[in-house]
Amino acid sequence: MTATAASQELVSDLISFLNCGKSPFHVVAETRRRLLEKGFQELSESDCLQQVEGSAFVIRGGAAIIAWRRGRKTPCEAGFRIVGAHTDQPCLRPKPGLVKNAQGLNLLDVEPYGGMILATWPDRPLSLAGRLIVEVEGQVQTRLVSLDGPLCCLPNVAIHLNRSVNDEGLKLNKHKQMSPVLSMGSSADEAREALLESLAQRAQIPRSQILDHDLFLLEAEDATLWGMNQEFISSGKLDDLAMCHAGLRAMLESERGDQTAVLALFDHEECGSNSYRGAGSDFLPSLLARLAGSEPEALPRALSHSMQISADMAHAVHPLYADLHDGTHVPSVNGGPVIKVNHNQRYATDGLTAAVFRNLCKLLQVPCQQFVSRPDMPCGSTIGSLTAAYGIATVDVGNPMWAMHSVRESAGAQDAISMTSVMKAFLSGF
Ligand code: CO
Repeated sequence: MTATAASQELVSDLISFLNCGKSPFHVVAETRRRLLEKGFQELSESDCLQQVEGSAFVIRGGAAIIAWRRGRKTPCEAGFRIVGAHTDQPCLRPKPGLVKNAQGLNLLDVEPYGGMILATWPDRPLSLAGRLIVEVEGQVQTRLVSLDGPLCCLPNVAIHLNRSVNDEGLKLNKHKQMSPVLSMGSSADEAREALLESLAQRAQIPRSQILDHDLFLLEAEDATLWGMNQEFISSGKLDDLAMCHAGLRAMLESERGDQTAVLALFDHEECGSNSYRGAGSDFLPSLLARLAGSEPEALPRALSHSMQISADMAHAVHPLYADLHDGTHVPSVNGGPVIKVNHNQRYATDGLTAAVFRNLCKLLQVPCQQFVSRPDMPCGSTIGSLTAAYGIATVDVGNPMWAMHSVRESAGAQDAISMTSVMKAFLSGF
């Protein structure tokens, strides 16, 4: 494959990954599928992991996954090389009761999840995906489900009824003004049953088996390239599926180095990471402890020469809002991976880890940029500082993008190629 063909393949593979990743559960299912295809062994956290050689992975709670490949040396001798990212995205999530009524219409009853830009959700067909909790022969199991098409829509009000909308912006109340229209009708019970019936059909199970659900609304439109030269990507969930994809491709394509290579994709970053399967949980530290081995001091010795790339998307300068950046650290879309620095440790980067990452970029002839939030504006946070606190030197990076947390975000195609190659070199032990 020529370099150009390889680049095109990577970008179209990212687009299909974005389209597959309809919910955190779907992201993990697609990651699992690709790992199995490449010979990674699927294990459970209840298995004994210390004796396992080669490449393997474990899934926690269906929406977080850690994959690893043993290095030529033990973790004690050479440490871990870790790439971390997150599987979740801000979105509307149906409440347990699913449906409510108003004005002779059935509405989906929803709760906003994470820091959504609420005003980007109206006037576009929305779809529904996630997992169903089912009972099969007395056992509680889960089934992925996706309705794969437009199900509901949140209509705006006309400008004639909201004359100030362009001066004051579209302000939406999370409780009163975010429930999408689902169907004609005035029986919430009937509409709920009909919806559960169609979810059951999609999952190919009888309705009677459904016990509960973990569902997510998403834009029904697929991801696409745009621009005169198709140099931009438009999609929901670029934050952070673009980094999950780069990390996964790097894990699948990197060479075995001295270090144990680890890919860790967590859920619940968008609500603070403190959960069973978030980066604040014991998922990563307990797994690293088990991989490090049972000799006394194995884990701290391994961690002392480990390094982590915490990968979460970054804010590119917007041509119409350039003054929202600090004026000196101004990343551009398609300008290469961004190192994120915050001296107050909202990002875990320091001069040393930044230099290691920058050197990798230089080795691969990939441009590299830096981002520092304006000191008079609150800085975002990510999984980096949480996992760094276990004792792992960390660099926070991400690809530059526009419209983070909009229902549809934009990023650069070239950056996807650059970041994947840097992560590949990192996991290969360069
Ligand atoms: Co993110």
